[in-house]
Amino acid sequence: MCSSDLSCSCDGGYIMQKDIRVRKISRGTVIDHISAGQALNVLKILGITKEHPKTTLTVAINVPSKRIGVKDIVKVEGLELRGEDIDKISLIAPEATINIVRDYKVIEKKKVEIPEKIEGMVKCANPNCITNFEIVKTKFIVEKKHPISIMCLHCERVMMEKDIVRQF
Ligand code: CTP
Ligand code: ZN
Repeated sequence: MCSSDLSCSCDGGYIMQKDIRVRKISRGTVIDHISAGQALNVLKILGITKEHPKTTLTVAINVPSKRIGVKDIVKVEGLELRGEDIDKISLIAPEATINIVRDYKVIEKKKVEIPEKIEGMVKCANPNCITNFEIVKTKFIVEKKHPISIMCLHCERVMMEKDIVRQF
């Protein structure tokens, strides 16, 4: 089966478009349309580090995109992303699309959505916030989506994207 991304003169599953190499995956999740520069933070959110690589990954950074100008892409093989991980990704990559792939086909595609309330997902950046010294679940409301700004319901600390990224 040809597994190239573009109209194909097949070279064994790889295709070259200018200087970008992308290969389709057989099973897993493709996180597409990630805001440019956020791919490594997406890996951080997924708990994928040098010490815990977990699985085969493809990371593409600064790929031209018709929809958002420039984008990053992360392909995680053998893992179907769900729930909280997707919500966390929405905070730093609000345009991202989650594609679940089985047998080389996209069987599910959904755009991430910033939740109205963010509970137990992000640490509060205020060191004096009660959530940082007692077992109290963090709760934020979303004040603004673009650019993201969230407010802690315990201490009213407002956190912007760069503050949120630091907490993951
Ligand atoms: N993809 C992949 N492996 C597969 C199938 C798809 O890596 N077996 C990748 C594609 O390269 C693309 C993304 O998953 O980056 C979404 O695939 P698809 O829905 O086929 O592409 P588009 O129609 O271009 O997606 P969209 O409309 O969301 O831009
Ligand atoms: Zn707080």
